[in-house]
Amino acid sequence: MAKQFKEYPLDLNRIPAHIAFIMDGNGRWAKKRMMPRTFGHHEGTKTIRTLALEANALGVKAMTVYAFSTENFKRDASEVDYIFKLPKEFFDAYLKELIENNVQIMAIGHLDRAPKETQDLIREGMRQTAHNTGIKLVFAFIYGGRDEIVEAAKKVAVDVKEGKVDVDQIDEDYFASKLMTAGLPEIDLMVRSSGEYRLSNFLLWQLSYSEFIFEDMYWPDFDEKELHKCIYIYQQRQRRFGGVIK
Ligand code: FPP
Repeated sequence: MAKQFKEYPLDLNRIPAHIAFIMDGNGRWAKKRMMPRTFGHHEGTKTIRTLALEANALGVKAMTVYAFSTENFKRDASEVDYIFKLPKEFFDAYLKELIENNVQIMAIGHLDRAPKETQDLIREGMRQTAHNTGIKLVFAFIYGGRDEIVEAAKKVAVDVKEGKVDVDQIDEDYFASKLMTAGLPEIDLMVRSSGEYRLSNFLLWQLSYSEFIFEDMYWPDFDEKELHKCIYIYQQRQRRFGGVIK
């Protein structure tokens, strides 16, 4: 039985299939506590675990988190190095529990541009959970939305060049099958923490019809109740997908 918060009663038959999070505000959360920015990222990993387990219990099929963007390389090397060490911290602390809860780890982005140890760790996490059938926890790691679209366009071009597809046959489904998210459910809900109102190059194609929620709370403060609140808000929205309400 999934948990309920009385302030945010959820209709368990209308749980979003796929929720995407822009995990923002780790640095400011730490600064407010006179701590280094990296401590905010450390605390942020705890939030990923909490939300993934609760989303799984609610029947969410996939949860994608923006862990590192193609633009994040502009940060100080020491911070970038720290973020690349987070997968170890995360898997050491939580992989066992995630496996017990049937969570499947996945990644989108240019994992091959990460240090070898980071790549190996994430790949090992994916390997150990590949057959799990619960929520798919997708790390967008060295990910950029425009980059993903360009990469997909290149794959389509190769198919055309090799005669695998006619230009006239290329439609949205065909194009989407070349994206890094191929096979994942459509994203119903996108949540960004920390009071910033931007997409920051996240899942540009996939968010076309998603509902957006921007919360003021910093990412390390997000908890189960906040997740329920976001899903509750989502359930009050009328989705029209370009049509009209009948
Ligand atoms: C933005 O906060 C957050 C990030 C750049 C993501 C940090 C990554 C994680 C919490 C998890 C990575 C975990 C794994 C397992 C790959 P910010 O630094 O931009 O915050 P600010 O806007 O307050 O400075």
